[in-house]
Amino acid sequence: MRIDVRYFSKGGATKKLADAIAEAVGAEAKTVDVPLDKYADIVFLGASVYGGKPDAAVVNFISANAKNIGKIVVFGSACTKKSTYAAIKSAAAGSAVKTAEMFFQCKGEFLFLNKGRPNTQDCADAAEFARKQVKLLGVT
Ligand SMILES: Cc1cc2nc3c(=O)[nH]c(=O)nc-3n(C[C@H](O)[C@H](O)[C@H](O)COP(=O)(O)O)c2cc1C
Repeated sequence: MRIDVRYFSKGGATKKLADAIAEAVGAEAKTVDVPLDKYADIVFLGASVYGGKPDAAVVNFISANAKNIGKIVVFGSACTKKSTYAAIKSAAAGSAVKTAEMFFQCKGEFLFLNKGRPNTQDCADAAEFARKQVKLLGVT
């Protein structure tokens, strides 16, 4: 089973989570600028919230790489409880790409809010989530 990790990050929060997930699943975290050169059964896709939605680069990554994506597992952060899951799932469906039922979301630092987040615990939680997803999705 091949696993890849892609992310978009303006300020470094999503990169932190991507690196923790990549280490947990034995992959390398790369930005969404880097296309998938081979089919991946699972693509952990890091998409945080900007103006209520994921950045267009993430949505474009899905359509441009659809044939090489088995299933997307979304992770990200926001300063509120908002997640990009629904938007990513909808964009993926538009490219006939499946999205896992579960996603990882934590608080992200923004202006004076959520200082230091994602923190060490958030990264450990993201890593644990990723390991569980690989087990879950690997046997179905
Ligand atoms: C330009 C911009 C717009 C944002 N808009 C929202 C938003 O609409 N809702 C929200 O909850 N957080 C919003 N945030 C907070 C980010 O989701 C949060 O800081 C996240 O951790 C950023 O991830 P990054 O460091 O990987 O870019 C915004 C942040 C930026 C920089």
